[in-house]
Amino acid sequence: MQRSLTGIKPTNAPHLGNYLGAIRPALRLAQEYESFLFIADYHALTTVRDAASMRTNTYDVAATWLACGVDPTRIHLYRQSDVPEVFELTWVLACLIATGQLERGVSYKDGLAKGESPNAGVFNYPVLMAADILLYDAAVVPVGRDQLQHLELARDVAQRFNHVFGDDLLVVPEARITDAPLVPGLDGQKMSKSKGNSIPLFAPAKTLRKTVMKIVTGSEPLEAPAEAEGSTVFDLYQLLASEADARVMQESLRTPEYGWGHAKQALYEALEAELGPRRETYDALRADEAKLDELLEAGAERVRPIARATIRRVREAVGMRAR
Ligand code: ADP
Ligand code: TRP
Repeated sequence: MQRSLTGIKPTNAPHLGNYLGAIRPALRLAQEYESFLFIADYHALTTVRDAASMRTNTYDVAATWLACGVDPTRIHLYRQSDVPEVFELTWVLACLIATGQLERGVSYKDGLAKGESPNAGVFNYPVLMAADILLYDAAVVPVGRDQLQHLELARDVAQRFNHVFGDDLLVVPEARITDAPLVPGLDGQKMSKSKGNSIPLFAPAKTLRKTVMKIVTGSEPLEAPAEAEGSTVFDLYQLLASEADARVMQESLRTPEYGWGHAKQALYEALEAELGPRRETYDALRADEAKLDELLEAGAERVRPIARATIRRVREAVGMRAR
C-alpha cells in the first residue's frame, strides 16, 4: 500500500473550516493509503512563544482528529518532536538546497515584505517539511494549495539527492491538492482562527447554537423572499446537508413564512447531527491527557523504525557510517 502523509500545526483549537477543509478530506483519503498524520510542533515553534499553548493545542488537535474518526491502530498518529531523526535528514537536505530557493519561500518573503525580521526557523521551514515527508517514503501528501511551493521543494531536493548519491534512495512525493471548499466564517470571510469568525467544533450544543445565530445575513423582513445563493448560512448548510435538503432550504427562503432565523436553526441542526455524536468522544479524550500522550507515543514508536531505516540508507549513501 502506498503511503500518504500530512502534518498539522498545533497553532489553534480546530474549527469548522479545519474540519471541512482538512480533516474530513484527509480521513477519506486515508482509506486508500497507509496514512501518516503528525502534529507539526517543531513547525509551530516558528511562531508559538508559550509552552502552555503548545501543550494545549497539541492535545486539542490530537483529540479532535481521534474524535473525528482517526483509528490509531490503522493511522500512524504522532508528534513530530517524538521522532528527532527528522533533524538528521533536515541537515543533509539543507546541504543540497540553494539559499536562493529558500529566499523565494512565500512565508519568508511575506515576513520581509511586512518589515518583520523572520527567524531562521521560518527561513528553514520548507527544509524541515521536506524531511518530514522524505523520512517516511511518502508517495502522496494531501495539502492545501498554499503548501504547493513547499511540496515542489521537497520533490526537487529528493530528485537532487537521488541524482547526486544514487537512484531511488528517496521517494519523490506527489502533492494531492485537497479540493476542499473554502469554508466561510460568521462574517462571510474565510473562516480563520486569527479573524475571530470561526465556529468551534466541539463547543457545548448551546454555545454552538448561539454562535450559528451570530452569522451575518441580509436584513429583509421575514415575509420578503430571500436569496439563498451567496449567503453564508446557505454556503455552510450546503457543505453539511444533502442536495435535496439544500434545495428545500433554498425554496423555503423564497416563501413569506421562512426567514434567516429558520435557516440558521436548520444549519445548527445539521451541524449538531454531524458533530454532536463526536462531542462526547472528544470531551472524554481531551480530559485524559495521559491517555493522549500514550497514544501519540505509541504512534511514534511505530513509525520510528521507518525513520531509522531511511537515515541508515542516507548516511551510507553520503559516505558516513550507517548506524
Ligand atoms: P487557520 O486559518 O484558522 O489558522 P490553518 O491555516 O491552521 O487554519 O489551516 C489548517 C488546515 O485547515 C489547512 O489544511 C487549511 O487548508 C484548512 N482550512 C483552514 N481554514 C479553512 C477554511 N476556512 N476553509 C477551508 N479549509 C480551511
Ligand atoms: N506546513 C504545513 C501547514 O502549514 C504543515 C506541515 C508540516 C506539513 N510538515 C508537513 C504538511 C509535511 C504536509 C507534509 O499546514
